[in-house]
Amino acid sequence: MIKRILLCAIACITFTTAMADEGMWLPSLIKERIKVMRKKGFRLKADDVYSDRKASLKDAVMQFGGGCTGEFVSAEGLLLTNHHCGYASIQKLSSVEHDYLTDGYWAKSRAEELHVPGLTISILERMEDVTDRIAAGESKESIIEQAKQGKGCRASIESMYYGNQHYLFVYRVYNDVRLVGAPPSSIGKFGGDTDNWIWPRHTGDFSMFRVYADANNEPADYSTDNIPYRPKRYFPISTKGVEEGDFTMIYGFPGNTQEYVTADAVEYVAEISNPMKIALRTIRLDIISEAQSKDVATRIAYAAKHANIANAWKKWEGESLGLERLGTADKKRAYEKNFAAWAADKPQYTTLIDSMHAAYKKAIPGYFARELFNETIAGIEVYNFAAWLVAQHSKGEKLTADVQVIGRQYYLKDYRAQIDKTIATHMIAEFIKRMPVENIPQELTAAIENYGGVESFVENLYNQTQLITKYPLTTEEILNDPMVQFATWFVPQVNKNREYAYRNLSNVPTIEKWYKEYMQALREWDKERAFYPDANFTLRVAYGTICGYENADGEYHTHLTTLDGIMAKDNPEIYDYNIPQVLRDIHAEKDYGRWGIEKNGKQTIPVCFLANNHTSGGNSGSPVINGKGELVGINFDRTWRSTMSDIEFDPSICRNISVDIRYVLFVIDRIGDASYLFNEMDLK
Ligand code: ARG
Ligand code: GLU
Repeated sequence: MIKRILLCAIACITFTTAMADEGMWLPSLIKERIKVMRKKGFRLKADDVYSDRKASLKDAVMQFGGGCTGEFVSAEGLLLTNHHCGYASIQKLSSVEHDYLTDGYWAKSRAEELHVPGLTISILERMEDVTDRIAAGESKESIIEQAKQGKGCRASIESMYYGNQHYLFVYRVYNDVRLVGAPPSSIGKFGGDTDNWIWPRHTGDFSMFRVYADANNEPADYSTDNIPYRPKRYFPISTKGVEEGDFTMIYGFPGNTQEYVTADAVEYVAEISNPMKIALRTIRLDIISEAQSKDVATRIAYAAKHANIANAWKKWEGESLGLERLGTADKKRAYEKNFAAWAADKPQYTTLIDSMHAAYKKAIPGYFARELFNETIAGIEVYNFAAWLVAQHSKGEKLTADVQVIGRQYYLKDYRAQIDKTIATHMIAEFIKRMPVENIPQELTAAIENYGGVESFVENLYNQTQLITKYPLTTEEILNDPMVQFATWFVPQVNKNREYAYRNLSNVPTIEKWYKEYMQALREWDKERAFYPDANFTLRVAYGTICGYENADGEYHTHLTTLDGIMAKDNPEIYDYNIPQVLRDIHAEKDYGRWGIEKNGKQTIPVCFLANNHTSGGNSGSPVINGKGELVGINFDRTWRSTMSDIEFDPSICRNISVDIRYVLFVIDRIGDASYLFNEMDLK
């Protein structure tokens, strides 16, 4: 018994000490954290953060597009988010004559604000714990239906703690959203993929939009009659800056963490999934980079694709290194052993760990096959077009010229057949090498044999297909096309993949059902641990302090970067580091006006800062708020060595990266010449 208590105590210590600023908290429960927050320097009350009766900070926060966060900064619907969150919208509005991605864009009046078709923002009206209602027999559908009242209302029920709790979220979705301003990519994407996930960082990663509504402030389709939306609350902006040790809070929509998973899940990520995905993406990125280095048009055409593939690739590398450094899998094994010892005399939990272990064993092959397929075959661009045509046809859609246009625009955008073919050759070879034989379509094996190898098979495939070269095609031509045939060979695999199409391996239903019990049991057993639900794209609060960190032995990284760091990286020869001439001029003349700060006895401009808030993908664009509830920055990244925080948060090293709001204001004023926007903002 004593041994058991001791073991438990050791386990608890490992986890509680690691808990300093860990956590993504549900705003409606923030009263449970407010004491700690106030100790760290927060001055507002719990119902200033979240209330469904009066205006609170949550009314100033929104989900921007599908996967980012944004925040209101004026009473007239003006909002800030990241440049990389607005990127697709800015690209959509750009043309060769008006290249807003390269040159930036600033509306000089409301009339010049540009509507972005398809862009929506969602504001949370309220959230409610509906666990008891569901337990009492109400159906989720009827709860959602009852909740959906008013124009543009969206409601959903999200599970927390693997189905132990259910929360209803009710949003208002606005779809008249207009671009107000964006810096040139040389500022908004400064450092590109080279600096992505890296500190010291110098990216001005912000863009501005405005939400429009009808005369009643309700959602309405785009119309020139619409007027700026009036949010219940917006953020005042601090121009005073941040100091090491200052309180910060992040309010946003993090997408996916898995802090409670067992060692089996960690080992799957660290030893099987990440290494496979990293190796395959390295091959794809090398092929794309090589082609890009030879031709400027190709560099531009494949820029966004490269950025997308590289973003997760680099994150997984950091994550695997982090998990290894922390020994997360071993720690979890020890934790589970102690748990099992405690559970030994609790009939309902005795076999739980064993059941979970067995469930993982059973689900891993299917999940792995799906991931491998996604990273190989589904990495072939024209395959995706072919597979889409096959899916349309089997749904009974006519493959008209118009339908073909839609597919071509989506799947063959900025397309280079030569790059795709090289990728296809490598990806098919890797697929065959890595996939268990029973999952390899026999038609594929036969065809490769027939052509005497993958290379000539692919050569022939690309020579024969008309999907790339001819438009429109007759239905017959499509169905007989060799690329379409190739796609049909994978239909059984694609169908099977659906059974495993969950956020993480742990969310596959045959595994997740055990987590429901495991979470219950952990909360009974590990009383010291502060539990918060894993991120699932619902609104969360994270809090912490502004701080640097020791990056390597004896190498401390301070919390703030400045314009001088941009100048040190500036290089007209390197695309990612070629800043606008006006910024060089401003720096040469030290002409900083009201935006200058003193650092090491010299005048400069603040650019980015670090803090130890627990954030994840989806927190991009989140407001960074000081103790007074004022906006001091916009969150956009984590440091590379932080990325394992989706599985284990290490307070000594995990840092989120934000663009300093003073840099945002400086760029609006001095690069965008749009300081008229300050009139509607509340600058403190
Ligand atoms: N790493 C950040 C995030 O996960 C920024 C990504 C966009 N920037 C880029 N260079 N790809 O989304
Ligand atoms: N850049 C990420 C996003 O788009 C945020 C960085 C992170 O994963 O922490 O949400």
